[in-house]
This record gives sequence, structure tokens and C-alpha cells, in this order.
Amino acid sequence: MSAIGIAPVQDGLPFGARVSGVSWDTIRDADVRAQLQRAFEEHGVLVCSDVDSTSEMQVEIASVFGPLRHHAMAEVSRADVGATATLMELHNHPEDQNVVELDGTPLAGRTPWHWDACYAPAIYRGGVLRALEMPSDGGQTGFADGVQLYQAISPKMRETFEQLDIVYDPGLMHDRQKFGLPAGYRFLETSPSMRQVQDSYEGAPRSVHPAVWQRSSGEKVLHVSPWQAAGIAGNESSEGDALLEALCQEMSETMQAYWHRWSENEIVAYDNWRMLHMVTGHDPTLSRNIHRATIEGDYGLGRAELVGAE
Ligand SMILES: [Fe+2]
Repeated sequence: MSAIGIAPVQDGLPFGARVSGVSWDTIRDADVRAQLQRAFEEHGVLVCSDVDSTSEMQVEIASVFGPLRHHAMAEVSRADVGATATLMELHNHPEDQNVVELDGTPLAGRTPWHWDACYAPAIYRGGVLRALEMPSDGGQTGFADGVQLYQAISPKMRETFEQLDIVYDPGLMHDRQKFGLPAGYRFLETSPSMRQVQDSYEGAPRSVHPAVWQRSSGEKVLHVSPWQAAGIAGNESSEGDALLEALCQEMSETMQAYWHRWSENEIVAYDNWRMLHMVTGHDPTLSRNIHRATIEGDYGLGRAELVGAE
């Protein structure tokens, strides 16, 4: 007898599920945990509704999918979650934020399509998000599926990128992003703290990941993050850059995205080996605060760039 319910998150989407019935009475049950693990593998993003919206529950849900990463920086009070984990705070507030303009509208907290930590050789399994503060408008989290994208792009593009690796550079964020920016996009302001982060990445090692990889379940995943992409490995030329840009634009034209508008009492888990995500942005006079628990792991296909050899 199933204690939780799993339903499509949105009609017509090939990924994503809404999960009901996750509570302190069910979450430690071995069958429930196994069901959640299968749903995570199958659907890529799980929206747990009507949950106890606390950091303890966030950590408990994350622990279903793997061991948790301890964040060395930007830690939220450990007392809040006990000794088991730390959460990353993703907080945009009017005093210190990046502002862009899209089609004439200023937006703070906009983060373009990416998968997390692409700039590192190891990519962690996933993230589990909880909203602590949402602006009255905007601030949605978008999710797109690399399995859907692989099937949606043209056969020629698929064939080309199956053979290619992508180089990622941690500094290529915000006004330094090179690929996949939409038309009508302009940078208005980079926050002092972001400028410091960008500068700290100056000369940092880059990572290399395949553009396409195959899950153990057999599906191929187009796993390219426009954010922080430096170019095609071995072909960082104007011709290679044009090819990667063409892929990024084709991805945005063919993706079927799910836009999560945050409600009370939700916790959202995503598979970082498969999904891309983004944040739409909001009115720069407002704040947005999300906490992320990070699930450890690695798919084993990334590597650090060997300088001079790529
Ligand atoms: Fe992210």
C-alpha cells in the first residue's frame, strides 16, 4: 500500500512529478524512500507538496537520494539543521544584487540555464530547494530535461555534439557569460560581492565534460550548461564558438521547460546529472531567498583541464 502519491507535475511534459504524502510519518519508511529514489531517477525533478517546510525536512528529503555535502561557504546556521548537514543560502536582496534587463524590464536574481558546479570535474548528484522568501511576482525556478533536449535537437546537431566535450570556466557568469544569452538581454549592474567572486576565479582551473552522456537506464542526456561554458574542448576558435552558440540557441528553441512558481510548504529535488535549471528574476527592489541542500555524488565523466593539452 503506497503512502505517497506521485503524479505528473504538469500535463504534457515528459519529465517532472508532484509528490504528495511526504511527512515525518512517511519519510523514514524504507518503501517510501525506495519509491522516491525511483521517482527521482525516472522524473528528474520532484515537487514535494504540503510538506513540513523546515530545514530538517529539507535535509531528510535530500538524504533519501544520497549523502549530503557540507558547504564550507555561505553556510546557514548549523543549529537549524543539527549536525547532519549545512545548507547553501541563495539570497538576493536589494542592497547587493546583479541586475539585468530583458526586453526592457530590469530583473534581479536572474540566473540563466545551467547545471550546478559544471566548472568542477566532479558533478554532484542533485539539489534540494526550499523557498524562505519569494518576491510577490517573478522568481520562478525553471527546469529543463537533458533527455528531452537530446531528443529535440536536430539529428545533425546531435551527431556533432555526441563527439564533443565542453570546457567550463567558473568565472564566466553574469556579464562574463559567453553563450546562450537571449536577444534583448543587457547587463545593468554586477553586485560588489559577485565581482569579488568572479575575480577570485581569475586563473582558476577549468573543467571538461562531455556534451552528451548516457544514463545507466540507457537514455542519452544533452548536458550542456551555457552559463560558465568557455567553448568546445580543442576548438576554442570563432568557428567552434559559433557552433556552441548555435547549439545553445537550438536548446532554448526546442526545450520544454517547467516553470516552478513557489508556493508555501514545498520542497523541490532535482537531478543535477540530467536537468538544467534557471531562475527567471524579479523586481530589483524585492528580495528572494532559497536554501539548497546538496546531494553528493559524481557521474565520473568530467575531468580537470590539462593546461596546454586541450
Ligand atoms: Fe543552480
